[in-house]
Amino acid sequence: MKFFIDTANLEQIIEAQAMGILDGVTTNPSLMAKEGITGEANILKHYVDICNLVDGDVSAEVISTDFDGMVREGEALAKLHPQIVIKLPMIGDGVKACKYFSDKGIKTNVTLVFSAGQALLAAKAGATYMSPFIGRLDDISTDGLGLIADIRLIYDNYGFETQILAASVRHTMHIMDCAKIGADVMTGPLSAIKGLLKHPLTDIGLAKFLADFEKGN
Ligand code: E4P
Repeated sequence: MKFFIDTANLEQIIEAQAMGILDGVTTNPSLMAKEGITGEANILKHYVDICNLVDGDVSAEVISTDFDGMVREGEALAKLHPQIVIKLPMIGDGVKACKYFSDKGIKTNVTLVFSAGQALLAAKAGATYMSPFIGRLDDISTDGLGLIADIRLIYDNYGFETQILAASVRHTMHIMDCAKIGADVMTGPLSAIKGLLKHPLTDIGLAKFLADFEKGN
């Protein structure tokens, strides 16, 4: 299972990379705005900065909602850095643009997926990644993890190679549940990843080992 961090915050990306478990980064226009990154030139520079901090794929989202605009933006983004993955919205033109880029061997991430039917379309268009937003579904009392399980079943039925990128992960249990279902990738906040470290018996056991070592010295 790949671990992506869902942020445009460079300090958090550096911290996650230093942990040695980071496989990539996802961003979106809201995350960029949250870091105060505005204006095309600054946003493009920020993507390059992120790519230079991590070893894996970095999703950069297009703003256009029409096919020509998505192709224009996506081609410019792809030229920025070899690690860039073009993030496209799950709308008709997004699916068309996904097919365009996948035919050219350019990596894509189809985002804002909320149904298994949308996931099937993304796979048919050859998406590298497809991002179902589990937290946002949970927010409206809909089973986000159930959607991941349905998509896993459908993709396995047909051997689709599109990777299920569980997005809108909000907490540590989401990560564990996605791992049990078989999501290929998860993206979420650093706090959710760090939550995997925690167990009181680890802390108690370590304290005892250190205390016993001190007694013997
Ligand atoms: C996915 O790529 C999105 O950036 C993200 O996971 C959305 O998460 P949110 O619902 O917490 O905003």
